[in-house]
Amino acid sequence: MKLADNKATLSFSNGSPSVELPVYQGTIGPDVIDIRKLYAQTDMFTYDPGFLSTASCQSAITYIDGDKGELLYRGYPIEQLATNCNYLETCYLLLNGELPDAAQKADFEKLVTNHTMVNEQMQFFLRGFRRDAHPMAVLTGLVGGLSAFYHDSTDINNPEHRQISAIRLIAKMPTLVSMAYKYGVGQPYQYPQNNLSYAGNFLRMMFGNPCEEYKVNPVIERAMDRIFILHADHEQNASTSTVRLCGSSGTNPFAAIAAGVACLWGPAHGGANEACLNMLEDIQRMGGVAKVGEFMEKVKDKTSGVKLMGFGHRVYKNYDPRAKLMQETCNEVLAALGLENDPLFKLAKELEKIALEDEYFVSRKLYPNVDFYSGIVQRAIGIPVNLFTGIFALARTVGWIAQLNEMISDPEYKIGRPRQLYTGSVRRDVPTKR
Ligand code: ACO
Repeated sequence: MKLADNKATLSFSNGSPSVELPVYQGTIGPDVIDIRKLYAQTDMFTYDPGFLSTASCQSAITYIDGDKGELLYRGYPIEQLATNCNYLETCYLLLNGELPDAAQKADFEKLVTNHTMVNEQMQFFLRGFRRDAHPMAVLTGLVGGLSAFYHDSTDINNPEHRQISAIRLIAKMPTLVSMAYKYGVGQPYQYPQNNLSYAGNFLRMMFGNPCEEYKVNPVIERAMDRIFILHADHEQNASTSTVRLCGSSGTNPFAAIAAGVACLWGPAHGGANEACLNMLEDIQRMGGVAKVGEFMEKVKDKTSGVKLMGFGHRVYKNYDPRAKLMQETCNEVLAALGLENDPLFKLAKELEKIALEDEYFVSRKLYPNVDFYSGIVQRAIGIPVNLFTGIFALARTVGWIAQLNEMISDPEYKIGRPRQLYTGSVRRDVPTKR
C-alpha cells in the first residue's frame, strides 16, 4: 500500500482532540482512510453495516469500476479474456497474477486434469441426501466434506497444502456439481474424461450416459467456458468476503470454500440467476410480453416486495459488462440450437428495454447484471434451474481460492473480527424469584 500525500482529519463537536488518519492509494480506484488505530486513539468504532464505505482488505486480483461498467482480472478487461482466453487460462491468471505461456498452460491443464476424479467414497456420502435435495445444499455438504477425504492438504498456513487444495477444488468442482445433478435425476455418475476440455468434460459428465457416446457441441462448450470465465471472480462480494472471513480463523481451505458456496446460495447474490429465470417463467405463465407493463408496476410498488431479478448491483451503477457478453452468448447458443424465437429471451429483452427507459430504474442506476441472461443460456443448454447457482459456485471457486491465498500471504492479515454498536440491555441481575 502506498501512502497518499493527503491525510484525513477527524474532528469532534464535543471538544475531544481531533485525530489525523493516514490515507493510502491503490493503483486505481478510491483511496482509503486507515482507521485501524481509531479505537485506540478515540475509544470509538466506525459504523458501516453492509460495508458501503469500507475496504475490508487490499487486493491485486480483480478491479471493478462500477460507474464505467468495467471489470478487470489482474488488469485485463473481461471482454478481452472472454474473447481470447479459456477458463483454465483465466484460472491460472487469477491464481498467479499473469497469463500462462504455452508451456505453463499445458502444465496447468495437465495438473487440473489429473485431479478431476473424486474419492470413490464420496458417492456414498452423496447417497445420504434426499434425491430431491437442492443442489446447493448438496454442494455445500460435498465441498465441506472434501476436508474429510483429503487430509494431506488441509493446513491453510502451508503453501504446498494451499496449492494442492486449490488444484483439487478447481478440478473436482465440475465432478461434484455433475454428481449432484445426476443423483437428483437418478442417473449414473459419469467419470471425468480427461481428453476433453474443462467445459467439454463438464458437459459430458452432466449430459452423457454409459449407453452411448456423448459428442460435445463446440458452441455449447464455448458458451459454458464463457459462463465460467464471467463468474470466475468479482472482488470483495458477499461470498468472497465470507471465504476470507472463514479462512481468517485458520480453518482448512475446503471448509472456507464451503462457506462461500453457502453464502452464494442466497437470492440477493448467486441465487439471483435461479430467481431471475423463475421470474421470467412466472411472467410467461401470466401472459408473457403483454404482461410486462403490469409486472413492472409491481416492481416499482415498494409494498409489493417484488424485485426485477437480475437487475441492480451494489457496485455497478452502469451496465454490468458481463451481462453484455452473456447476451452475446445467449444469441449464439439460441441460434446454434434453433431456439432464436425462445419466448423467455424475447421477454427478457423486452423487460430490459422497458427498465432502461423507466425513470424508476434510470434514477436508481439499475442495469442488468450477469444473472439476467445467464439463466436463459443455461436453460437452453439443458441445465435445470436449480443447478444454476451450482454452476456459479463451480466457476467462482478459483476466485475464492485466489482471494483466500492472497489473504493468507498478506503480512497485514488478521482474523476478521468486526465490532458492534451495542443496543441491548445494560447489565442487570437475574431475578431470584421468577
Ligand atoms: N428491482 C427493483 N428495485 C430495485 C432492484 C431491483 N432489482 N434493485 C435495487 N432496487 C431499488 C431498491 O429498492 C432501492 O430503492 P430505494 O432507493 O427507493 O430504496 C434502490 O434500488 C437501491 O437498491 P439497494 O437494495 O439499496 O441496493 P443494494 O446495493 O443494497 O442491493 C442488490 C444490490 C442486492 C443486487 C439489489 O439490486 C437486488 O436485490 N437486485 C436483485 C437481485 C439480483 O439480481 N442480484 C444479483 C446481484 S449480481 C450477483 O450476485 C452475481
